[in-house]
Amino acid sequence: MHRIVNVVGVGGSSRPGSTAEQALRVVLDAAEQRGASVQLIAGPALAMPLYDPRHGATAPQARRLLSAIAGADGLVLASPAYHGGISGLVKNALDHVEELREDIRPYFSERPVGCVAVAQGWQGAVSTLAALRDVTHSLRGWPTPLGAAINTSTPCFSPAGDCKDPHVQEHLEAIAAQVVEFATMRVLAASRTEIAR
Ligand SMILES: Cc1cc2nc3c(=O)[nH]c(=O)nc-3n(C[C@H](O)[C@H](O)[C@H](O)COP(=O)(O)O)c2cc1C
Repeated sequence: MHRIVNVVGVGGSSRPGSTAEQALRVVLDAAEQRGASVQLIAGPALAMPLYDPRHGATAPQARRLLSAIAGADGLVLASPAYHGGISGLVKNALDHVEELREDIRPYFSERPVGCVAVAQGWQGAVSTLAALRDVTHSLRGWPTPLGAAINTSTPCFSPAGDCKDPHVQEHLEAIAAQVVEFATMRVLAASRTEIAR
């Protein structure tokens, strides 16, 4: 038996219950159904001062984010498209991951990362998804084969957060499955290496 994998979702906007946050919740719920423990860091929890490499992560929100990422076996990132790219709120949070450069698993190393972008059109959704995947690569993470670009010009979440579009729901669940599967494989491989020592 291996231990339960821990999946951390990061994203959303300053508006609690934003579309990106709703999408993130769907992925995390699906990961939980697959046996993962999950943690969401979204909305106001991402409101932290602009990252300054001279000062590091001083704000409590920044320290909480870094501690969650450092302890994660898998990650899910979700951002709205702001002017064709990752929103400042989400990008600033990701900039703080620089503080994990000397961690035992630097940045996102050895972890799968599911990426989700939401926008009012396909162009912004797709370019923002590509940007999230590029950031994941830069942070040495493994973007899952499937990412999600969600076009909110037709609203796909109910006010309660239920996904009304079966195709989007299926897509987000598939990302959760890939994150949990990869994270489980890594945890198993690490425990075998430990036993062999
Ligand atoms: C500052 C700002 C810039 C935006 N830029 C884009 C954009 O470039 N392309 C696009 O499709 N949508 C853009 N949008 C729309 C958001 O991506 C869209 O509303 C998304 O669904 C966010 O959902 P939310 O309001 O529930 O967080 C922008 C919204 C804001 C506030």
